[in-house]
Amino acid sequence: MSRRSVNPGRRMSDGGLPSVGGLLHSKSRSPRVLTIALLVLGVIVLIAYFNSGPGVTVNSREAFTRSEGSCTSEVIQALPYLKKAYGNDMQKVLHVGPDSCTVVSNLLKEGKIEAWGVEPYDLEDADSSCKSLVRKGFVRMSDIKFPLPYRPDSFNLVVVSDALDYLTPRYLNKTLPDLARVSTDGLVIFTGNPGQQKAKISELPKFGRPAKLRSSSWWTRYFIQTGLTENEGPLKKFEQAASKNNYKPDCQIFHLST
Ligand SMILES: *[C@@H]1O[C@H](CO)[C@@H](O)[C@H](O)[C@H]1NC(C)=O
Repeated sequence: MSRRSVNPGRRMSDGGLPSVGGLLHSKSRSPRVLTIALLVLGVIVLIAYFNSGPGVTVNSREAFTRSEGSCTSEVIQALPYLKKAYGNDMQKVLHVGPDSCTVVSNLLKEGKIEAWGVEPYDLEDADSSCKSLVRKGFVRMSDIKFPLPYRPDSFNLVVVSDALDYLTPRYLNKTLPDLARVSTDGLVIFTGNPGQQKAKISELPKFGRPAKLRSSSWWTRYFIQTGLTENEGPLKKFEQAASKNNYKPDCQIFHLST
């Protein structure tokens, strides 16, 4: 019995929130303990709120874009270079990652690009324009640990940001081939750099586990192991366009053939 309780406890601390586990346990003991626990939690939340930085009261969406380890904003910065690199292959694009609405609406603004998005986490704080994209079926929520709800070769290009940083190799082994499955011309992967700060503690419950920011050599080895090869043509064009404009991404960007 005591042995069985080891695992959930460990998972709680993996998520960086051991205190919540403790609070939940106290619930069953007495209502008074729960009241005290809630008060303590309230104070912690208040302290965290007032310590969040001098004069930066940002809403959660902004907080997400600003927190490092967010490569979704990097995707938007990289769009002009992606267009140079992929040209006509950018007809039907799928973006997979947090804040997918932002990427999809930026792509749709181009006019010539058909864009869809998969949001792997929650859409609770979605603004009205995001909700409208969801209603129209452009963006959907989907757990990327399971096969994507699309037929093979549904898109020319699949662009992934952040999402893979939150998957263990066990899930990566399933998710990565599945991303390749739905794309005909390429897979572009944005991941955080090991030097980058990880997502904020307050955002962890959303992702389930802290990001694991892996090195470029780790990813390269992993892609080879998974049978994915570098998409040489677009990679060269992307790097040429980037260096011409002095664009130096904070995130790692990998171009893979599918
Ligand atoms: C993932 O796949 C690779 C190659 O197919 C294999 O060597 C590795 O053991 C797998 N990892 C896990 C955790 O299943």
